[in-house]
Amino acid sequence: MDQYAVFGHPIKQSKSPFIHRLFAEQTQQQLEYGAIEPAEDGFVEAATAFFNNGGKGCNITMPFKLDAYHFATQLTERARMAGAVNTLKVLDDGGILGDNTDGAGLVADLLLNHVALEGKRVLMIGAGGAARGTLLPLLEQNVVMLQIVNRTTSKAQDLVDLFPNHQNIEATTFDALEAAEPFDVIINSTSASMSGELPPIPTSIINQYSSVYDMVYRQEPTVFINWAKQQGAAKGIDGLGMLVAQAAESFAVWRGIRPSMRQVLRELNKNLG
Ligand code: ATR
Repeated sequence: MDQYAVFGHPIKQSKSPFIHRLFAEQTQQQLEYGAIEPAEDGFVEAATAFFNNGGKGCNITMPFKLDAYHFATQLTERARMAGAVNTLKVLDDGGILGDNTDGAGLVADLLLNHVALEGKRVLMIGAGGAARGTLLPLLEQNVVMLQIVNRTTSKAQDLVDLFPNHQNIEATTFDALEAAEPFDVIINSTSASMSGELPPIPTSIINQYSSVYDMVYRQEPTVFINWAKQQGAAKGIDGLGMLVAQAAESFAVWRGIRPSMRQVLRELNKNLG
């Protein structure tokens, strides 16, 4: 049977095996999906062994996304722009394709939640790896403006500089947001939510048409989502759907068939609840 796996350290908490086994069942694909935890400096060795033993593809999570980027012999454009790889796949010629499905996952989950992107003003809070992974797919949705705000402003500008041919992406500051019009879509990619902190954005950028997305997910709504709802945001969505959607995109890269997210989301919500 075709072998797939997720690589991470730690890996025990990963929901990928659960998600991909449900996808396989749902689409009647014959495959096995495991979980591998290499030592923190052991990715190359573990991945080499996996592919030498006939592995067809894998997901990569913390802290190996950069190792996987270098391991790949060929990169998709979205992986190149993300500077990180979360999906590897064996090619017919034996090469290894490195892809990144995180941004496609975010876009798919926004659209699934009826959050339109085309022609919209979008604010990305944070300029780390999580933000970078989503920028090209967001720009490809023809947003009218994608602004990036970050505690360390130079990092937001570094991300903007990756897109010299796009006029609709720019860096801003938390101070400058005080005078900004409300945004249609506000995405929190910072790790602040993990520690229950709010990024310092002014309430004036949220109105009753704003949709707010937190890439983090919790059993309860995150502090950011609760806060945005209190400010009157139309929607508050957490990152569980993005997790499932990036997995669905990886599955499609490997198997050429796109599983449905709804059943898996229902099952995951049951387990979280
Ligand atoms: P990831 O890969 O999850 O994006 P990262 O690359 O370490 O992780 O980036 C973390 C992001 O969260 C950064 O944008 C960071 O801001 P700085 O670049 O200024 O460090 C942001 N961040 C973390 N804690 C924050 C907080 N308490 N308030 C605001 N931003 C925070």
